Amino acid sequence: MKLLKHILVTKLQFVLAINVFLMYNVWWKRRVYTMSNTKAIILAAGAGTRMKSDKPKVIHKIMDKTMLDYVVESAMEAGATDICVVVGHGKEEVISSISYPVTIVTQDEQLGTGHAVMQAADFIGSEGEVFVLFGDTPLITGASLSKLREYHNMNNHGVTVLSTNVSNSDGYGRIIRDEDGNFIRSVEHKDASILERKKKEINSGMYIYEADLLSKSLAKLTNHNVQGEYYLPDTLVSIMNDGHLVESMKISDYEEILGVNSKAQLFEATTIMRRRINYLLMESGVTMIDANQVYIGKDVEIDNDVTILPGTIIEGKSKIGIGSVIGPNAKIINSCIGDNSVIDQSTVLNSNIGNYTSVGPFAYVRPNCEIGNHIKVGDFVEIKNSTIKDHTKISHLTYIGDADVGEHVNFGCGTVVVNYDGVNKYRSTIGDHAFIGCNTNLVSPVIVEKNAYTAAGSTITNDVPENALAVARARQVNKLEWVKKKQR
Ligand code: UD1
Ligand code: CA
Repeated sequence: MKLLKHILVTKLQFVLAINVFLMYNVWWKRRVYTMSNTKAIILAAGAGTRMKSDKPKVIHKIMDKTMLDYVVESAMEAGATDICVVVGHGKEEVISSISYPVTIVTQDEQLGTGHAVMQAADFIGSEGEVFVLFGDTPLITGASLSKLREYHNMNNHGVTVLSTNVSNSDGYGRIIRDEDGNFIRSVEHKDASILERKKKEINSGMYIYEADLLSKSLAKLTNHNVQGEYYLPDTLVSIMNDGHLVESMKISDYEEILGVNSKAQLFEATTIMRRRINYLLMESGVTMIDANQVYIGKDVEIDNDVTILPGTIIEGKSKIGIGSVIGPNAKIINSCIGDNSVIDQSTVLNSNIGNYTSVGPFAYVRPNCEIGNHIKVGDFVEIKNSTIKDHTKISHLTYIGDADVGEHVNFGCGTVVVNYDGVNKYRSTIGDHAFIGCNTNLVSPVIVEKNAYTAAGSTITNDVPENALAVARARQVNKLEWVKKKQR
């Protein structure tokens, strides 16, 4: 009995020990995985002469973001925590365009993709893994780069190149394989034999490397080829010759590796990006009667049951609430629109608009406006740097600049807040339930207190007390028989 008990206890201890070991193992692997240091180098030194532009290529925009920023974001989405951008042509402009903290290295002379990566030698170091990407290949997704990284790690490759099959491989580097389908090398179009040029698997120019192997192979690169350039793809052979596994990961979506070299290709990339963004939005319940005529930035958030009508552009950090109708021909930049509101043929910049509010047609909401709920901003109304509280009506032909407007205020047609004297700007305040007669000038700074009225055509230069009617215009004089006298 005692022996049995002893055996049982030992067995239990053994099972426990195994479990602890397994748990530790899982924990350690996960720790190694999450701690593994992933970097990205983005090449952006080229001039991009075919763009026929004074601006460096990678800062051309696809809707509201530069091509380079899309690539930086995809690298971050794939887990890159340190990013290095290799700049050269127009470097000051490129550097100031980048929206994220990155390391910058300069390549003064463009001696090839390998030479560009050499400039980042200190950044690469010898720990972790490194993506190499191009600043002019903006359609690559974070999801595909994540897959590349997983595939690379799962198979213990020294380097993995992203590739794809295309029907016309002209101009691209070709992936060459042996009879058994094993990777041999990546050959540039200009260096390839007629037979090699027939290969359909192309090098996308994007890779993930073990940092130490990249460093070592860069040191061995030469420029003994047709173009006299240091080719980055030559590192693949050198890493393989050192006894490491080198392979490609083929993706089916050719669009993701589309490089932009001309304005026509920029348009193609824009079309693809727009379709990607719009389809995601439609999948989440946004209605578009013509998704080909709607331009929405990647960071815009739109609730379901929002309708976006043709000709609409929404950019930056904008948000549209459930049930709202935007467009036709609306432009909304860095602004939030609440639920069930309407923005009809109007522009809204850096402002917030509440629920059940209607703006337009043909209204202009300039930066720094807080417009509340159940408000009407009608045709040919311009509002700037102002607060408008709930249920106020600004129906037509009115300018409100630098003003704080209460709730249930009514603006007659043609009201102007005269906020600028040619030197300084002043603020005015209009209290709740005030009634501003047609063609009133409110000469700032002035306060119209709550429940006060201004008579049509008044030029208000003094404060109007609560419940008062302000009349500030000349009385009408009728000069009888004046016309007959004039005709004589
Ligand atoms: C490169 C690849 C090719 C691949 C193709 C995919 C090489 C040698 N070839 O060819 O295998 O099929 O991409 O599009 O890598 N850059 C620099 N500094 C340089 C040279 C280039 O920053 O000295 C940048 C360019 O600005 C550009 C990118 O690297 O963004 C690619 O350079 P590019 O000369 O266009 O390479 P490809 O000939 O297209
Ligand atoms: Ca290219």
